Amino acid sequence: MTVLPAVLFAALVAGPRPAASPARAVALRVEHLVTPLGIDAARPRFSWQMADPRRGARQSAYELLVATAPARLAAGSADVWDSGVIAADSSVDVVYGGPPLEPRRRYWWTVCIRDREGSVAPCAAPSWWETGMMGARWAATWIAATPAPVDSASDVRTAQRTSPSLGNLPSGALDTVAPTVGDTTGDPAGRVPLLRRAFRLAALPVRARIYATALGSYRLTVNGAGAGPGALLPDWTDYRFRDTYQSYDVTRLLRRGENALGVVLGAGWYAGRMGYSSTRYAYGPPPVRLLLELHLSYADGREEVIASDTAWRAAPGPILFSEIYDGESYDARLEQPGWGRPGFRALRWHGVVPESAPALELQSQNLPPIEPTGVVHSRRRWSPSPGTWVFDLGQNIAGWARLAVRGRRGTQVRMRFAEILDTDGRNITQINLRSAKATDTYVLKGGGAETFEPHFTYHGFRYVEVTGYPGTPALSAVTGIVAGTALPETAELATSDAALDRLWQNIRWTQRANLYSVPTDCPQRDERMGWMGDAQVFWRTASYNMDMAAFGEKWLADVRDAQTAWGCFPNYAPDFIRDRPCGAPGWADAGVIIPWTLWKHYGDVRVVAEQWPAVERYLKFIADSNPDFLWRRGKDVQFGDWLPAGSTKSWGETNTDLIATAFWAYDAALAADMAGALGRLADAAQYRRTFERVRAAFDSAYVRPDGRVGAPFVNPDGVHSEFTQTASVLALRFGLVPDGLRAAAAGRLVDDIAAHGWHLTTGFLGSAYVLPVLSDAGRDDVAFKLLEQQSFPSWLYEVRHGATTTWERWNGDHGDPGMNSYSHYAFGAVGEWLYRYLAGIDEAPGSVGFAVIELRPRWGPGLDSVHAVYRSPRGPIASGWLRLRDGAIQVTVSLPPNTTGRLFLPSRPPQDLEAGTYRVVVR
Ligand code: BGC
Repeated sequence: MTVLPAVLFAALVAGPRPAASPARAVALRVEHLVTPLGIDAARPRFSWQMADPRRGARQSAYELLVATAPARLAAGSADVWDSGVIAADSSVDVVYGGPPLEPRRRYWWTVCIRDREGSVAPCAAPSWWETGMMGARWAATWIAATPAPVDSASDVRTAQRTSPSLGNLPSGALDTVAPTVGDTTGDPAGRVPLLRRAFRLAALPVRARIYATALGSYRLTVNGAGAGPGALLPDWTDYRFRDTYQSYDVTRLLRRGENALGVVLGAGWYAGRMGYSSTRYAYGPPPVRLLLELHLSYADGREEVIASDTAWRAAPGPILFSEIYDGESYDARLEQPGWGRPGFRALRWHGVVPESAPALELQSQNLPPIEPTGVVHSRRRWSPSPGTWVFDLGQNIAGWARLAVRGRRGTQVRMRFAEILDTDGRNITQINLRSAKATDTYVLKGGGAETFEPHFTYHGFRYVEVTGYPGTPALSAVTGIVAGTALPETAELATSDAALDRLWQNIRWTQRANLYSVPTDCPQRDERMGWMGDAQVFWRTASYNMDMAAFGEKWLADVRDAQTAWGCFPNYAPDFIRDRPCGAPGWADAGVIIPWTLWKHYGDVRVVAEQWPAVERYLKFIADSNPDFLWRRGKDVQFGDWLPAGSTKSWGETNTDLIATAFWAYDAALAADMAGALGRLADAAQYRRTFERVRAAFDSAYVRPDGRVGAPFVNPDGVHSEFTQTASVLALRFGLVPDGLRAAAAGRLVDDIAAHGWHLTTGFLGSAYVLPVLSDAGRDDVAFKLLEQQSFPSWLYEVRHGATTTWERWNGDHGDPGMNSYSHYAFGAVGEWLYRYLAGIDEAPGSVGFAVIELRPRWGPGLDSVHAVYRSPRGPIASGWLRLRDGAIQVTVSLPPNTTGRLFLPSRPPQDLEAGTYRVVVR
């Protein structure tokens, strides 16, 4: 990349300047987000895409302008930063290079690109981002509701009965009633408190922002209206070290005169029971607490801050209980209508207590919040027994249900959530949820139509059992609300095989169900944790399905927070166990594999730079413990090739030292790549050497001269094994088999698959890589056979058995009931093969961020067409093929502007491509 003074650039593109270019810069993003409000990045990254209908369209240069107002940009004046004209095709993660940014300020930006001929395109429509607190000191105090001695429910009922004129008091009387009783200790097992702060505004501000967070989970209203999107805020992090705050533009919600802020403060991940020990307050002491600042800016330049402090008032709310695993109990009789609005008379509300500031880092939330992303209507309902109804959404989802009901005050309706029906096919069963109660209860206030959605819980479910419903519920009485971190979906796939399409849909549904600010293993049982092995095998697939860039960066910070002092990565992150053991091979390695995958996929080296010290510490830990380059020591936990196909047990049948050593080699190779990207050439060479040494050790220990790979092993279930499919798969995928033996090793793998009747014996690790390994070995035929296999164990077996999400176990229909999630994405890692091999949309070796694309679609006997689109950081890439009547294959591919590529088709020389659409018939 060269920076050219504008004059020189003009000279370079001199000559009669053609008419303005038809090119456009579109899809402007900052830090991977569209117009993010309140981010702390000191040097934000800018991305855009080039739209240009012409074949071969490319960006030859760009100029990025940042200003304090859009009008300035329109006038061509960047009063903050002008990058100058840069002769480069960069359009992804271009780093801000201007003066230090001010906190809480909106910046406007545009980019003016030049096309391949050097013609200037009209600058992009101005976009913006807004900085957050940027490390500034918070004026606010953490506050919590005060404890109180007596039963609060009856107390609030008394208050409601005796205060018919709520809302009619003069503003001077606001919130001045003496503290009174109410069980609002903030104990998640108790009533969930409401907090409010009333204030007067003599004049309307021109700009109002709220910055808020909690240790716990909060919902914020301004004058009774929701302050912004998001549920289960703040995101889950390791609250011992880090908490994220959210930013809200509330300018339009304020009014002259009285105003009110309202907060419901639940347990969330901070305070609710989490993990195997069902610990409450795993990250710090009670109570749940709030931190909030409302910044008001007036036209005359005056600034005012209203913060969380002891002027706030609190009272117990209608939520009797709400936690992630167990669900919510809500008594609508305890509602205090209008409590979040101005004019509400906070009778019998009491004071709040200041809490000392926890020693943690407060950071802006840099990814979309968890929120509802869709609705699934009930498809069927039936009554298995008098008074009990079962609703079937027809789709396994994560989120919650909206209940619509009408009935007598005090009627209690209970909803129990389940993924499956009992063996009778009529009743639900929660047997696979272990201790998670996944139950919501609603007590009606009576007097009309009522709807209920819970506040601080979520469930993984397809079926809802309803009891206590007054009368016969309509089908519309229960609606599924799909929720999760709202990441943009970036792929399409349609084939001639409905079962394959369903598999692909299932993979996406499972991903949606497991992005809850953390990539979770499952959304339903008492687990839902950021399991690293599941994440690393699935990440490549996940990155085609959705834009995982911002999410990945956030989670890698959780992973670093969980790294031990001696360098181990954990099994899951965020972690909540102190003195935790080292993570298992194949799990802990996510700390190396995921930053590499993010960098390759999105082209941004910053994620690598941020993770690099942690990667080095991890690899040093392994190397120090294993001087002979076989990873046999320093493994506290081992899951092996978890949940192998063909077994009803959990433990894999591949030697765990072999697995560990294979992952060490892989880590070293990826570290060498990443060191190169960071310009650390000596480190790159050193990790290459480590890779070679581990590979040599692996070969002599595990690879036989006939191409078999394995070592004797007895797993914890007592199963004896030696040569396994997974051993071959890992060795081939990670480049550990000597070149001369690769064909033999692939042959042995195929022999074993054939010996199992074209079935796999692989678990989480082997299954993720097996199809790519087969295709890379020239055995697409076997890859297709396995993909299209319908008998057990296979991907389509579960589709054939009605799966709407991917199962945790190949034998989801007859495994250990306590370890049987129906929404586990690990085996969905086959999605990578669908995109990279079947549709053949891949990154060229050495390319990152899909700047150089390889297209290599493949066809097999059972399919007549494939059509796929991946909306890459540079724009949509499409690839597909259609079997024509005469048996020929018509291939159609297209590349977005500002990329190049190569098309590989059987028995043809590779064809170089530029942006545009190409159609080729292969006979
Ligand atoms: C989780 C996983 C995880 C595994 C580790 C399970 O309980 O659900 O998917 O990877 O434990 O063995």
